Amino acid sequence: MVYYIASTTAPVNIATLKYWGKRDKALNLPTNSSISVTLSQDDLRTLTSAATGPELRQDKLWLNGKEESLASERTQQCLKELRTLRKQLEDEDSSLPKFSMWGLHIVSQNNFPTAAGLASSAAGFAALVVAIARLYQLPQSMSELSEIARQGSGSACRSLFGGYVAWEMGKEADGSDSKAVEISPMEHWPQLKAAILVVNASKKDTSSTSGMQLTVKTSELFQERVKTVVPQRFIHMKEAIENKNWSRFSELTMKDSNSFHATCLDSYPPIFYMNDTSKKIVRLCHAINDFYGTYVVAYTFDAGPNAVLYYLQENEAKLFAFIYKLFDKVPGWETKFSEQDLQKFLEVYEN
Ligand code: ADP
Ligand code: DP6
Ligand code: CO
Repeated sequence: MVYYIASTTAPVNIATLKYWGKRDKALNLPTNSSISVTLSQDDLRTLTSAATGPELRQDKLWLNGKEESLASERTQQCLKELRTLRKQLEDEDSSLPKFSMWGLHIVSQNNFPTAAGLASSAAGFAALVVAIARLYQLPQSMSELSEIARQGSGSACRSLFGGYVAWEMGKEADGSDSKAVEISPMEHWPQLKAAILVVNASKKDTSSTSGMQLTVKTSELFQERVKTVVPQRFIHMKEAIENKNWSRFSELTMKDSNSFHATCLDSYPPIFYMNDTSKKIVRLCHAINDFYGTYVVAYTFDAGPNAVLYYLQENEAKLFAFIYKLFDKVPGWETKFSEQDLQKFLEVYEN
């Protein structure tokens, strides 16, 4: 038996200005522009291999060791577009093997919780599209592949780029101007770091896709967010990244996470992605910032209870001293702070 195989990894991206809402379900076009930070491949990532061969009749996917359905329209759309591009190559060069006629077997592994609000659909669809594009030896640019990944999962279009990325919503009905563009590469602001606090690794009750559909349909607050809040915030957040303005970036990131979760709560019936531990983390971050009198940490929560904390490398010890202490996870935690400082902090935190 002959098989052809290609593999790739794709990183997670965590939005600091959230995409939440579709204006076109079939094309997966958003109601607002969004901004994200792509994490390093050494941290949260998907590893996907795609294989084809003349004996493979069907398309199949194994996700984290278990066979999953490929039936969703959005996955089918990605596969269809990739096959059409391959077919064009085969029509131009008849010596190429007829990959476009054969089945695909896809094996994918996330090294972090799946469907738990840590952007598994973003890394997952980015890796799926790039692995198949490599297998098919497609000449398309990352930008063109990103448009295909967007149709699998909106947030996936941003994971094709590293660093600081905007997904411009676009105006055209066919989605031709709705695409991810790099704001700055990671090296522009290497001091910015992300830490993930896994609160609950289980699959969430409400997928992002169905959650945002309910919000668009039922929330009045959402209309306000899309019309007046996000357009302004998009400009300001882009500027904050370009100018490496950490305090501005932190404030906007936290406010946008809160605004997004407020629209979830305003949906009917309400959607709760954050739990009590998530809320404890929010309070903790504000207490840490109050204690130091400056921004040391910024939290953001996607559609799930797990926290992503952004901070500057120089403040890592200051941040983790308190996190380890309060969540009691690391025995013998090290801190430069005196018992007196800790007491002072706890007063801020507990009041
Ligand atoms: P998340 O917050 O993790 O992005 P979503 O509700 O947006 O959660 O999407 C989760 C879904 O994305 C999964 O149920 C699965 O269908 C799909 N998915 C996740 N990881 C992968 C992957 N590696 N390959 C293909 N699809 C994936
Ligand atoms: C809260 O991209 O997962 O993470 O397009 O329906 O697959 P679908 O949704 P998805 O939604 C992401 C929502 C978010 C915010 C963001 O990543 O911008
Ligand atoms: Co998702």
